[in-house]
Amino acid sequence: MKVEEYYGDITGFSGDAIIVFHVEDSGRFFRTTQRIDRSLDGALKELAGKGEINGKSGGRTTVHTFGKIKSYRVMVAGLGKKDAVVPETMRSAVAECCKALKQTGAKKVGVTIQYPELEGIDVQGMAQCVTEGAILGLYVYDKYKEKKEDNKQEIAELYLLSSDRKVKGAVSEGRERGEISADAAIYARDMVNEPANIMTPTRMAECAQEVADASGLEFDSFGREKMEELGMGALLGVARGSHQPPRLIELSYKAPGASKEHVFLVGKGITFDSGGISIKPSAGMDEMKGDMAGGAAVISAMKAIGRLKPKVNVSGIVPATENMPGGSATRPGDILKAMNGKTIEVLNTDAEGRLILADALSYARSLGATRMVDLATLTGACVVALGTVCTGLFGNDQELIDRVIKAGDEAGEKMWQLPLFDEYREQIRGDFADIKNVGGREAGAITAAMFLKDFAEDTPWVHLDIAGTSFASKAKGYLQKGGTGVAVRTLINFVLAKT
Ligand code: BES
Ligand code: ZN
Ligand code: ZN
Repeated sequence: MKVEEYYGDITGFSGDAIIVFHVEDSGRFFRTTQRIDRSLDGALKELAGKGEINGKSGGRTTVHTFGKIKSYRVMVAGLGKKDAVVPETMRSAVAECCKALKQTGAKKVGVTIQYPELEGIDVQGMAQCVTEGAILGLYVYDKYKEKKEDNKQEIAELYLLSSDRKVKGAVSEGRERGEISADAAIYARDMVNEPANIMTPTRMAECAQEVADASGLEFDSFGREKMEELGMGALLGVARGSHQPPRLIELSYKAPGASKEHVFLVGKGITFDSGGISIKPSAGMDEMKGDMAGGAAVISAMKAIGRLKPKVNVSGIVPATENMPGGSATRPGDILKAMNGKTIEVLNTDAEGRLILADALSYARSLGATRMVDLATLTGACVVALGTVCTGLFGNDQELIDRVIKAGDEAGEKMWQLPLFDEYREQIRGDFADIKNVGGREAGAITAAMFLKDFAEDTPWVHLDIAGTSFASKAKGYLQKGGTGVAVRTLINFVLAKT
């Protein structure tokens, strides 16, 4: 889908539909909508009078224009209460409208860039959210289907409409940022949705290479031999049970000018998590193809970062491997030695994410990380605690934590901080080694994060547990069933906000 801009009299925009917005607690339409309604001889006002157009959140009314304006339809989308409208409201509303219009066969759709009546969102933000909502909402993953039913008709062109040319700078900026962010999130969704027989560690590295070529980043990756040289016993311990060779993937962006700051994004890249010898129950195991969502988010965020050129150096690290129960697999009770010298008692081979991240965090530190953010589909316990509504967040530096939460908030990606009190360390104290990889039933998401904390050591670090948010079981708003691309837009906002 192409996203373009249109400036001028909105009634002159010829498309299959124009989307306009309305709120429930205002007696009047927004100015642009009033302009359209005059040409429609007050049809919208009449419907509002009857309560059919009421501005309620999620409400949509379609009016056919039969030549009164150039566009064939007007869709009035409800946003709820005016003061409660935030960027996320716009993303969801636009996504739902686009999905409905696609069903009607609409190919060319305009969306009014609504301002200045809404206080919770500026013109640039509006253009960005409309772009993101449309691209993310219209996403479909059907590459393996012969009959592409859902995708018979495509909205090929989306126009951002404004009657005021003065806002062109802001609209263009928002559109570009929205296109780059949504494109990156979609890249992550595609990676997550690919089956595990295709999206192997080797394929993940190829994706990273593609991203590097497209976005002007440095790419590097290495396998078992160098992992052994570096002493990455924890990562190698997970990889032992699989025939697929593991890969440590690295993408680097160098900021123009001399920045002392070097942010490392580290993503769990388990391309399939069978549980290993501590094998998982078969129900739902298919979803474990998505256990590389953290890694996918890192590679995809880097795709956008190379294009948006923030002022800080950013590297992405993805330890990628399968977790399989092959004949050479690590056994419960085995002791592994991590890159930083710590010994780990593996009591459950299904707690593999923390093992590969342990070495990846040590590796990031060895490369000079000044700040680290890791992302991982780490624990079922986090899903029990927070559900699918928000990502669990942990860290050792409150300033960094607050920045990540803010970046998430701007992206409409909710995060909730959980504590890392020292008392929890007791649960993962090793009996036969320095540390054990599971801490019992209580506070499972926290003890997993507590384990990682030992490997982040004194580097400011944030850990995001995306187990509940990376994979949607049904479509909602701008999310489709399957990979959500969660955290990609948060990471982009985060590195762009830093100076
Ligand atoms: N990949 C899983 C966590 C997960 C669960 C992700 C559900 C997405 C949805 C992780 O490797 C795992 O298996 N964790 C175990 C840890 C336990 C053995 C301490 C879990 O959460 O059960
Ligand atoms: Zn596991
Ligand atoms: Zn896992």
